[in-house]
Amino acid sequence: MFYYPLPTIQFWLLILSLIFLLSFLAAIVVLFTDLCLTIATMTLFKGPFFARSGLARINQVKKLADFKPGQKVVDLGSGDADLVLAAGEKGAAALGLEINPWLVFKSRQKVKKCGLEKLVKIKLADFWKVNLNGFDVIMIYGISYMMEKLEKKLLQEVKKPTKIISVCFPFPNLKPSKHLSQVYLYNLKGS
Ligand SMILES: C[S@@+](CC[C@H](N)C(=O)[O-])C[C@H]1O[C@@H](n2cnc3c(N)ncnc32)[C@H](O)[C@@H]1O
Repeated sequence: MFYYPLPTIQFWLLILSLIFLLSFLAAIVVLFTDLCLTIATMTLFKGPFFARSGLARINQVKKLADFKPGQKVVDLGSGDADLVLAAGEKGAAALGLEINPWLVFKSRQKVKKCGLEKLVKIKLADFWKVNLNGFDVIMIYGISYMMEKLEKKLLQEVKKPTKIISVCFPFPNLKPSKHLSQVYLYNLKGS
């Protein structure tokens, strides 16, 4: 009979160290990818940084927006599509406008993986050049210095009652109807 020796404690320590090392390397790769996307967005495409809203804020957006089937939703700078997917999962027709082609590519893959291609569309576009009338919900995770310009654009273009959701950065003059932590809801009546 041939017996394999039982793995020793050193063997398990080696396995644990390898797992730890691989997780550490994976984290570095993720951080590096995000850093590259941030630099690309800020320099090549002259937009604000790329950062994800993250699970907690996505849940706050969902509570405030109360997405419904048939609604028209847009995310101005849709990043890697988390917010538009949240809207699509509730049956809303969601459009992501994104200036960074790499994020557009990644988002379209993600949408396909979720089987939401019929409801969620990602467009390579500069949202400053898109008319924002006709949506039921407009979402934005921008940056403080652009909020005044965006406020003016919304007040000029939005003609019907629309929910505006801003992640992290409030508008300078509009008063939020509600906020959950750093996610702000504005109910625009439309002009
Ligand atoms: C802070 S991230 C938010 C991503 C996503 N909305 C989220 O909440 O997870 C901002 C995104 O806006 C995009 N962006 C910046 N300026 C833009 C513009 N003028 N038109 C379209 N997208 C823009 C950036 O490429 C980036 O992906």
